[in-house]
Amino acid sequence: MSVAKKEYKRITTKSLVDMKANGEKIAMLTAYDYSMAKIVDGAGIDVILVGDSASNVMAGHETTLPITLDQMIYHATSVVRAITRSLVVVDLPFGSYQSDPKEALRSAIRIMKESGAHAVKLEGGKEVKDSIKRILHAGIPVMGHLGLTPQSIYKFGTYTVRAREEQEAEKLKSDAKMLEKMGCFAVVLEKVPAELAKEVAESISIPVIGIGAGKGVDGQVLVVHDMLGMTHEFNPRFLRRYADLHTEMTKAFENYRDDVKSRDFPSDKEQY
Ligand code: KIV
Repeated sequence: MSVAKKEYKRITTKSLVDMKANGEKIAMLTAYDYSMAKIVDGAGIDVILVGDSASNVMAGHETTLPITLDQMIYHATSVVRAITRSLVVVDLPFGSYQSDPKEALRSAIRIMKESGAHAVKLEGGKEVKDSIKRILHAGIPVMGHLGLTPQSIYKFGTYTVRAREEQEAEKLKSDAKMLEKMGCFAVVLEKVPAELAKEVAESISIPVIGIGAGKGVDGQVLVVHDMLGMTHEFNPRFLRRYADLHTEMTKAFENYRDDVKSRDFPSDKEQY
């Protein structure tokens, strides 16, 4: 059953704003390589995020901090080769946009030029305002990211829900309005109370995409390895698993190992 209200041949930043205006929810997933992106795009997912979560799920780092701009561009280039419909958004990695707006613009330009992606995402509100402004002025679409911003994990000290306290909630609301006013085309809200996320989504005209932000927002994003059940040790409340690939893949690898050891594979038919 199709749940899309309107057929979009290619998703643009404008399509997403239209979807919000028409009450159609936006489906976003991460991808970091060609083969996965081809399946995600073919399944009709609206937005593919080349997230800096690649640092965790592809490279095995504990945080998103170590991934470099060159590595993000490598992942993004592989994803862009695969897509025919989805909008491709690429995370600006830690250290590539915080220190000065000129460097932020240079980083964003490298992503757009070298990968062929359609937009960039960066974490933070007022603190990175000048960087966002500079990137937007160059004609590069920007998606914001507020709430739990994993690049600041050492400041937070924990991956727990953000903006439960009034002061942080007020800052988040004002940052979201600022991002809208500046011309960002969407904003991700990560791990914040559902009621607050709904209030933010209702107060701005650009789409709010949630991860652990409840159902009152305009779309959802999940890390593809998590929703496929490949990272089975990671079990936050917000994560719905749509497959158990850890079990399936382990079974397949064990069967292959046994077939090789027992000389069952390859058979006469599987050779030249
Ligand atoms: O890097 C990422 O995967 C993200 C999502 C969690 C939104 O930023």
